[in-house]
Amino acid sequence: MHPTYVRQSARSQRTSGLEQYKQEILEVRAAFPDLLTIVDKLIVSADGASAAVFWHSSGSFLGELQNVPATGRRVETRGSNLLTLKDGLITHESVTWDHAELLADLGIPSLKSAFEPDSEKVVVDVPGATLHPDSIKGFNRQFVTGVTVVTTIDSRGNPRGLAANSYASVSLEPPLVLVCVQKTAGTYGALFSSTHLGINIVSNAQRDVVSAFAAKIPDKFAHVKWHVGPDGSPLIDGSAASIEAEIKERFQARTHTVFVARVTHAEVSDVDPMVYKAGRFHDGGEPSTVVWTRFVRDPQELGGWREYYDRWNKCRSAPESTDWDLTLPIRAEDHLLSLPTFSKWGAELAAITAGEDHIIVCGVATDCCVLSTVFGAIDAGKSVTVVTDACAGVTDEAHQQAISLLDLLSPMVTLATTDEMITQSMQRTTASS
Ligand SMILES: Cc1cc2nc3c(=O)[nH]c(=O)nc-3n(C[C@H](O)[C@H](O)[C@H](O)COP(=O)(O)O)c2cc1C
Repeated sequence: MHPTYVRQSARSQRTSGLEQYKQEILEVRAAFPDLLTIVDKLIVSADGASAAVFWHSSGSFLGELQNVPATGRRVETRGSNLLTLKDGLITHESVTWDHAELLADLGIPSLKSAFEPDSEKVVVDVPGATLHPDSIKGFNRQFVTGVTVVTTIDSRGNPRGLAANSYASVSLEPPLVLVCVQKTAGTYGALFSSTHLGINIVSNAQRDVVSAFAAKIPDKFAHVKWHVGPDGSPLIDGSAASIEAEIKERFQARTHTVFVARVTHAEVSDVDPMVYKAGRFHDGGEPSTVVWTRFVRDPQELGGWREYYDRWNKCRSAPESTDWDLTLPIRAEDHLLSLPTFSKWGAELAAITAGEDHIIVCGVATDCCVLSTVFGAIDAGKSVTVVTDACAGVTDEAHQQAISLLDLLSPMVTLATTDEMITQSMQRTTASS
């Protein structure tokens, strides 16, 4: 091959150089260890400036390719290459075959649009401005959906599942549905290699189910009651409705796979479904935005902070140290705010809680971060409930003193215990159902 070799896919117009091509060959060989290619025909032009190669290959899909898990299936694929030659070396090659062709031959077609190079055309959402990804997110946030839990059984026989709101009904005859799943999801591999999946529409009373299935935690099914559908998929008890479906198509997008499945079984209850919009669940007016805040040291230790860290030397860990890690699982939809200040009130928290008149605060230390954050919040016009037994001070006495101080800020600050909060929440849910 000529050192200036360029290979171009006739399908996607994607080009690659020699090094990239070598890499692609290694990838394909790793995915298909028994790959055998036979050249069927080679035609060289009379002047030796161009040639055409017709070939076919076969092999077994035994290793991951382009984020697509191996299926073990055998593939037979064929293609033709048009070569431009210079001094007997290939300078340019136009090929009818690439990774996408190979996956398509395996029954895993790719959505062509998902692999197009990023458009150079300037797209605008308001005249004169460039389309920003936040605009698309903003658009999506205006769309109201339900929430489902998509389930399957992995190769070890364990139930797996994730929360998903990308469910859509495709058609009634035939009864087709679709769901889009991110390739980084822990459930993805099991789902990809399954023949069937379950889709459970989460009910109003299943907020804890969504929390568990939206988190990356082991053994999510330990937290729910479930039964097995006729084709083996886990169906979650208490769901508003559940279906089981046979996976028919797995369309590759860059980051996601679109699963199209044919419904084989349906269970429908008269329980109300959960409604989801813009990161919030609308199941009876509960505040659903959860913001976890972390104190993380600023290594500059500006001004008085040096004395603070001299006094609390054990807090001198680097900002990236695991010492600051949260120990509770945080849900995908929760916010995490890390600041080197006691008060977490500021532009970020104001933006996250915009539209909320009332916020609920708990944490440590009552006499430090809790107190200073509440001051900031009430100055910004929020009414605040501090959950007293969900806070702790440096000492019990310091906690009590801080709570007394917060009580002085009534009516902007109210105090409540965890039991009182749960009772209020249950009364609200009953009133709204
Ligand atoms: C309301 C809601 C909707 C979601 N929808 C999807 C979705 O459609 N597709 C997806 O891949 N992830 C979706 N997620 C995120 C996954 O549930 C989340 O990444 C989860 O941690 C995956 O779990 P796993 O890694 O154990 O599979 C959604 C999360 C929430 C809270």
